[in-house]
Amino acid sequence: MKLTSAQREEFDREGYLFFPSLFSPTEIKSLIDEVPVLYAQSRPENVREKGSESVRTNFAAHMYNEQFARLARHPRMVEPIVDLFGENVYMHQFKINGKMAFDGDVWQWHQDYGTWKNDDQMPDARAMNVAIFLDEVNEFNGPLMFIPGSHKLGVLDAGHDTATTSYPLWTINDDVIRQLVGRGGIVAPKGPAGSMILFHGCLVHASTSNLSPWNRVSVYLSLCAVSNHIRRFKRPGYIAHRDFAPIQCLPDDCLVKPYEVAVPWKNGTPAAELQPLTVAA
Ligand code: SIN
Ligand code: MN
Repeated sequence: MKLTSAQREEFDREGYLFFPSLFSPTEIKSLIDEVPVLYAQSRPENVREKGSESVRTNFAAHMYNEQFARLARHPRMVEPIVDLFGENVYMHQFKINGKMAFDGDVWQWHQDYGTWKNDDQMPDARAMNVAIFLDEVNEFNGPLMFIPGSHKLGVLDAGHDTATTSYPLWTINDDVIRQLVGRGGIVAPKGPAGSMILFHGCLVHASTSNLSPWNRVSVYLSLCAVSNHIRRFKRPGYIAHRDFAPIQCLPDDCLVKPYEVAVPWKNGTPAAELQPLTVAA
């Protein structure tokens, strides 16, 4: 899947592209059916909401679940990014965010590239975020919100918020958000399960809590241009991957046929991936 010149212009201007219903209900069912088993596991990759057993985010499922390993190699997701960067990409981060009914907590206003730069020493914002909806996203279940055009401002000042939720985040203060929203407004792409969003690493985004009775499970992937790989391994390898091999795509029907994929962490996460390393590759 290649982007049209109109899509490239839209991405440059707005900082994101929305593809409603890009994956079929059958493809999405094959993924969402795997989620309860993943969330039930007690492994460090499952981060639970504050004061609850609900999973906030599950890291690196593509390393221990075959169907998510196939998704990580899906050409409908990988090819537009390779096209935009003009270079092969590797998987920097892979998450399945729960935002579960009644329990899903907020994601404060932030940019992802700020963390990749400060924590991981990623040289440039040549990494793309992808969100794939495994449930419908509507106005009630905590849709992802963007400030269009905010990616043009580079890395904004942020403070490390370790208190608001169960997962520490570099967040942008309210005065800056007020100014940014004054110029760009807020949008929240909504749509059926199977929809996909591509968004720039510097696009300012957030989501509210989920008070609705509907889960909002979405996969969030960050794909980085291979030459732009991280230089520091301060975060565990299951959060910020250290394998910079280019993603080799599977055929387009890889979610409906059982193509063979490696799942090297199936029997547990290697000890080296659980901790910081002082020397990066
Ligand atoms: C994120 O910014 O990484 C997640 C946001 C969300 O799940 O709403
Ligand atoms: Mn984010």
